[in-house]
Amino acid sequence: MQPIIKIKEGDIEISIPENEKLSGKIPFFNPVMKFNRDFTIAIAKIFKVRRFLDGLSACGALSIRLKKEAEDIEVHSNEISDETIKFLRQNKEDNNVDIIIHNRDLNLLLNEDGNFDFIDIDPFGSPVRFLSNVLLNARHNTIIGITATDLGTLCGRFGDACIRRYGTFSSKTGFDKEFGLRNLIGYVAREAAKYEVGIEILFSYYFVHYFKVYFRIKRSRRCADETLRNLNFLLYCDISMSRKYIAFADIGTENFCEQQRGECGNKFKILGPIWSGKFADENVCNLLSNEVKEKTEQKILTLVKEEQEILVPYYDLHKFCKINRLQIKGTDEIIKIARENGLKSTRTHFDGTGLRFNGNADELLKILK
Ligand SMILES: C[S@@+](CC[C@H](N)C(=O)[O-])C[C@H]1O[C@@H](n2cnc3c(N)ncnc32)[C@H](O)[C@@H]1O
Repeated sequence: MQPIIKIKEGDIEISIPENEKLSGKIPFFNPVMKFNRDFTIAIAKIFKVRRFLDGLSACGALSIRLKKEAEDIEVHSNEISDETIKFLRQNKEDNNVDIIIHNRDLNLLLNEDGNFDFIDIDPFGSPVRFLSNVLLNARHNTIIGITATDLGTLCGRFGDACIRRYGTFSSKTGFDKEFGLRNLIGYVAREAAKYEVGIEILFSYYFVHYFKVYFRIKRSRRCADETLRNLNFLLYCDISMSRKYIAFADIGTENFCEQQRGECGNKFKILGPIWSGKFADENVCNLLSNEVKEKTEQKILTLVKEEQEILVPYYDLHKFCKINRLQIKGTDEIIKIARENGLKSTRTHFDGTGLRFNGNADELLKILK
């Protein structure tokens, strides 16, 4: 018999095996994912979700909390591992909640029943294995929550894996976390478009070791086309840290690659395609801030909301100052100077030393001098 430990989160207590690991068939619970569960529950409450699928539920922390914390909700909890599902069943009983348990491969389950208001997918690593079936089977207006923990691939550390898994050109950049999130949303948008589905972004963010994206499914050809307008390639120069979005159509023009250079005159790298639109809806951020309680969650919401004003990826100020041999200034001072010069700038939740800035690298240089 495996040693068991009890974990408290919110109003529930669940049992997990003491020797739980981050891989394989061993039942899984990660306390760092509390914010992930908090935001998911908050979104389900805000949008008055009635039928929820916790597609990869492990020991049931999300399902059980959701059933306790939201009103009038039917919660379906799905887990493939026979070993893990014993814990899920035990936790259901111990917490006295009426959740519906499935012991299926999520892809098979989705092909039989896509009739949910909210489908949450929290896999080990990449969500790509499940996305097609979610996008193919979910109804119009269903909310989808997607977690990804394969940050190395999404953020540009493993270029070959990124091409294989997401079909995008990537590279190390000075804004790797934002590249990763935009890379993931871009992939979701292209995958959705295959099925003539558009996506409406509700909220997304990065935290410690994962990305989370919440969006609504829009089953219409027009919405699919509108969604694709938010996909662009990104030109990036390692030397000057210049960056700019470029439309799909422009890439194909004659000598395009030869002509494109950063402020320093060096050739740009072509990265993407990635999502170039807003990665959160400001109204949803406001609604979420009434629901979540933790200080860090509030901080993420405040920053994410502000960030939507500027869509070009943030500058890593330390790196930018280092390559330009400048003394670093305080972020608040830089924001003030930028505003005095008629330029927008904000902090970013992706990186404490990051600055969003709506000018180009030359303009940032002037402000920092
Ligand atoms: C990262 S864990 C989920 C954690 C959980 N959401 C939580 O908040 O504690 C992923 C789970 O998905 C399960 N899983 C993996 N492949 C699956 C599949 N094809 N169908 C259903 N469950 C699967 C794994 O056994 C594992 O328990």
